[in-house]
Amino acid sequence: MLLHLKKILTPDEVATARSLLGADAPWVDGRSSAGAQAVGRKNNEQLAQDSPQAAQLRELVLSALQRDPLFFSAALPRKIFNPLFNRYGGESNRYGAHIDGAVLHSRHPAQWVRTDLSCTLFLAEPDEYEGGELVVREPQGERRFKLPAGDLVLYPGTTLHEVTPVTRGARLASFFWVESMVRGGEQRRLLFEMDMALLQLRGRGEDDPALVQLTGTYHNLLRMWADT
Ligand code: NI
Repeated sequence: MLLHLKKILTPDEVATARSLLGADAPWVDGRSSAGAQAVGRKNNEQLAQDSPQAAQLRELVLSALQRDPLFFSAALPRKIFNPLFNRYGGESNRYGAHIDGAVLHSRHPAQWVRTDLSCTLFLAEPDEYEGGELVVREPQGERRFKLPAGDLVLYPGTTLHEVTPVTRGARLASFFWVESMVRGGEQRRLLFEMDMALLQLRGRGEDDPALVQLTGTYHNLLRMWADT
């Protein structure tokens, strides 16, 4: 399941993030964190994880995720990899097709995270740079994303994906992974569809015993499939 979540960050939060990623930000070679498969394909810059800017930015992104019910319903997060930040531009402008490592080590807090879902949170507006599309190859075909600053795309960790070369300006983004309580993508998708339908019914103000039963069934399916 590929999902575009709009306005995860408020305009104020985008502005804060942008100032933290400004002139004083300590960028390092993104290849330092790439696995053996990715190292020859990855050519971007990454914000030094141990910098004060990274600590503030992680906090900003994680608190935004926590208040978003759609993110929770779609991802059913068990662990979230500490958000990382990258920049594509100039000579360091692309990341060729690859599949992310299955289990990655997150530093803050220190933990291993199975990468059920990948997330990209865009921090530059589409007209600030040329190229820099996130291309995700699903069995049904290719999907391309270049979203407004503050929007997020959630896609399966199993997919081949790339970032096309940035030929003008700079593309700034946060990226991270989610280990879900529900490991199977198919089960997760069914739960999400059911939750969205329940939300619509509740929004109509209906007070029907069938709605109470269906909500209970959602929770009983989640209980059957979730690991905490
Ligand atoms: Ni990747």
